[in-house]
Amino acid sequence: MSSVEVPREQWATRIGFIFAAVGSAVGLGNIWRFPFQVGQEGGAAFLVMYLMFIVAVGFPAMLVEFVVGRYTERNPVGALREIGSGAWRYVGWIFVATGFVILSYYSVVAGWTIRYTILGLQDGYIADAGEAEAQFVTLASGLDAIALHAVFMLAVIVIVGAGIKRGIELAVKVMVPAIILITIGLAIYAATLEGASEAYAYYLAPEWSVIAANWTSILPAAAGQAFFTLSLGMGVMITYASYLGENRNLAEDGAIVIGFDTAIAFVTGLIVFPVLFTAGVDPADPGAGAIFVSLAAAFGDLTLGWLIGAVFFGTVAIAALSSAISLMEVVVSYVVDERDVNRPTAAVVVGGGLFVLGIPSAYDLVLLDLFDLFADQILLVLGGLLLVVLVSWFLSDLAIAELERGIGDLGWYGSAWIWLARTLVVLVLIVALVLGILDYVEFLTGPFSEWLADL
Ligand code: PFF
Repeated sequence: MSSVEVPREQWATRIGFIFAAVGSAVGLGNIWRFPFQVGQEGGAAFLVMYLMFIVAVGFPAMLVEFVVGRYTERNPVGALREIGSGAWRYVGWIFVATGFVILSYYSVVAGWTIRYTILGLQDGYIADAGEAEAQFVTLASGLDAIALHAVFMLAVIVIVGAGIKRGIELAVKVMVPAIILITIGLAIYAATLEGASEAYAYYLAPEWSVIAANWTSILPAAAGQAFFTLSLGMGVMITYASYLGENRNLAEDGAIVIGFDTAIAFVTGLIVFPVLFTAGVDPADPGAGAIFVSLAAAFGDLTLGWLIGAVFFGTVAIAALSSAISLMEVVVSYVVDERDVNRPTAAVVVGGGLFVLGIPSAYDLVLLDLFDLFADQILLVLGGLLLVVLVSWFLSDLAIAELERGIGDLGWYGSAWIWLARTLVVLVLIVALVLGILDYVEFLTGPFSEWLADL
C-alpha cells in the first residue's frame, strides 16, 4: 500500500476503454492463427463453431474479468486478494506470471514484424519459398532478433510508463482506428487480385466432412482460440476494467469488443488467402512462421508486393504493440499498486526484466516454443479456469450485482450468464487444460529433449 494515497487513474472516455480492450484483443492471434485455422479446419464450418465459442464461452468469461476488475479497482493480485479467501487469494499471481512469460516472447515475434516491414521497404520479399524460409530462419534468431525485441520493448515501456490516459489511451486512439482502416483497405485491394474468388471459396465454403472427421481436435482448438484472441486468462480485462470509474454497461462494452475482434480476424482472412492463391502458394501448409514464410513469399510474387507487404507487416506490428501494452499493464499495475513504485520506474524495471527473459526466445526458436506452449496452453487456461470457478460458483451474487451496476435489473440474463460460466466455460477450460498439459509433455519429451541432446 502506498503511504501517500494517489487517486487511481481512470480512462478519460468510454471510447478510450473500448479501444484499449479492442487493441488488446486484436493481435497476432487474429492475424496469424485465425485465418489459417479456418482454412485448415473446415472453412465456414469451423467459423460457425468458433463463433459459437466466442458467444457461449468468450463472452461470459470476459464479463467475469470485467466485473472483478471494476468491483475491486485493483490489479489482478490485489483483486483476487480482495475477493478470494484461503488459497484463492493467490490466483492473481498466475495472471502476473502469465503476462510476464507471454510478453517476453511476444515481443520477439513483434520484433520480426518490424524486421519484415523494413525488409519490404529495403529489399522486397523473396518469392522462392525455400529461400524465404531460409531467410526467416536467419532473421528469427540471433542478434538482429534481440535488437528488434529491444526496440519493441522500448516502445511498450514508453507508452505504459506514460500512464493510462496519456499513454495507453492516447496510443490506442491512434493505433486501433489505423488497424481497422488499413485492414479494410488491404481487403479491398485483395479483392481485386486474380486469385480472389478461388480464395473465398476455400476460406468460406463449409466442409462439414472435415469437421465430422476431426471434431475432437477442432473443438478444443476453436475454444482455445476464442479465449486467446479475446485476451482472456491473462488478467488484461481485469486490469483494464479496474480503471473504469463510472457505472458503465459492461455487457454492451464486451459485445462491442468481441464484435471488433471477430470482424478483424475475419477480414484478415480476406487479405491473406487472395494473396496466397494469386501467388500460387499452398494455404494448407502454413508451418510455424506462416506469415513470415509463405505469405512473405507470396508478396514477393505480386506486383508492388513489397509495398503491400510492408503495409501489412507494419499493421501487424501496430496490432502487436496495442496488445503488448495491455499485457505489460497487468504487471506494471501490480508493481504500482502493491510495491509503492511510481509508474515510469515500474515500466522501466518490468520492461527490462521482460527484455532479459525474452533473450532465450530470440536466441532459438525451440526456446520460444518452450515459453509459448507453457504460457498459452497451461498458465493462461489455468488462470482463466480458477477465476471463472471462483466467481461463478462462490461469488455469483456479487458478480451479478456488479454487472447490474450500469445496466439495471438483469432478470434471467444474469442467471443465464452465471450458469453458462459454471458449466460450459468451466468444462471447456478443463478439457483445454488437460489437452494443453499433454501437448506440453509431448513437446518436452520430443522436440525439446532432442534440442537439449544436440547442445
Ligand atoms: N488477444 C491477443 C491476440 O489475439 O494476439 C492475445 C495477446 C497476446 C494479448 C499477447 C497480449 C499479448 F501481449
